[in-house]
Amino acid sequence: MILVTGGAGFIGSNFVLDWFKQSDEDVVNLDLLTYAGNLQNLATIANDPRHNFIQGNIGDIVLVKKILAQYQPRAIINLAAESHVDRSIHGPEDFIQTNILGTFRLLETVRAYWNDLDEMRKKTFRFLHVSTDEVYGSLSAKAPAFTEMHRYEPSSPYSASKASSDHLVHAYHHTYGLPVLTTNCSNNYGPFQFPEKLIPLMIVNALAGKPLPIYGDGLQIRDWLYVTDHCSAIRRVLAAGNPGETYNIGGWNEKPNIEIVNAICTLLEETHPQSNFHDQITYVQDRPGHDVRYAIDARKIERELDWKPLETFDTGIRKTIQWYLDHKSWITDIQKGTYREWIEQNYAERSK
Ligand code: NAD
Ligand code: TYD
Repeated sequence: MILVTGGAGFIGSNFVLDWFKQSDEDVVNLDLLTYAGNLQNLATIANDPRHNFIQGNIGDIVLVKKILAQYQPRAIINLAAESHVDRSIHGPEDFIQTNILGTFRLLETVRAYWNDLDEMRKKTFRFLHVSTDEVYGSLSAKAPAFTEMHRYEPSSPYSASKASSDHLVHAYHHTYGLPVLTTNCSNNYGPFQFPEKLIPLMIVNALAGKPLPIYGDGLQIRDWLYVTDHCSAIRRVLAAGNPGETYNIGGWNEKPNIEIVNAICTLLEETHPQSNFHDQITYVQDRPGHDVRYAIDARKIERELDWKPLETFDTGIRKTIQWYLDHKSWITDIQKGTYREWIEQNYAERSK
């Protein structure tokens, strides 16, 4: 069996659901259920005996030790994290606690477990750490995309905390020989993404007749990957990646934010011909320290592990919009008190 951390979040729940489409191997899912964790994402496998959900913190050494002893996983996929840049600007503490200290404590507990495995299981064990392209910092317009050799230059509290966790993971390989794998992926989108991130926020606001807030000039560039392509890349790295190695994952889909928002408006107008969602686009005050451009060079994983994304941006964004149109009650359930408080906090000061 495998242990997935953060498996009730956006990528984690997609990963677990996808895992059971490809495999009968059991999953232990450890998730703290912060504001971003949602058991509704896993409703379709609520009674599946292959799925063992445990609410808890990756930094809880006693709990993680007990889980490892009981379930004896052959691999750990570490997705648990605080993941939103804007929240890290408003309150970095949780990012330090989970992304740095939590990962450190998880590594320590896993190292003790791994040390006690027999030689055969020790060799095949894997700790796969899921990270982000944001650790590499911001690119200028014409600079080549990030390769795995690009130096770390994180610029937000979020990316700095993820960079720290990556360094710890690498150190546990170098120093203790723990068989780790690291993946650094570009911006994901798809079903179950919490509507604080660009794409779901724009879909949800458009449908609610609310402003579509573009930070600054909207010309910042991100590289977008449909979430199930990220999941297939993680499975591929787990199956065939070399311990100690890093694999960049991306969709070769660089787009300025304004283009993404225009595409969402145009597609929504196909299903709502009476509406003009473009009219809701509103330019607001920029994010402090806003990274201008991210771009992933995914040639290493393509060449060495024969992985390629299945979705284009056009197919992925259509699926995503359809998913949100089909899951209105999921959206309503999320937009409770704490969500509204966050939206007020983040956007109140941005109105120009
Ligand atoms: P998310 O915020 O949707 O989900 C994170 C999950 O982790 C939540 O279910 C939350 O409850 C859980 N969690 C938080 N703190 C925890 C703790 N201390 N112990 C146990 N569980 C905890 O994030 P996501 O977008 O699904 O991202 C998952 C991972 O992928 C993160 O490590 C993130 O840095 C990385 N990543 C995300 C993207 C993206 O575009 N979303 C891109 C590249 C990499
Ligand atoms: P986001 O989804 O927060 O991901 P990240 O900051 O990790 O890349 O934001 C993606 C881009 O969209 C980023 O350049 C900031 C921008 N953005 C807006 O313009 N308006 C918004 O309301 C949000 C949430 C993001």
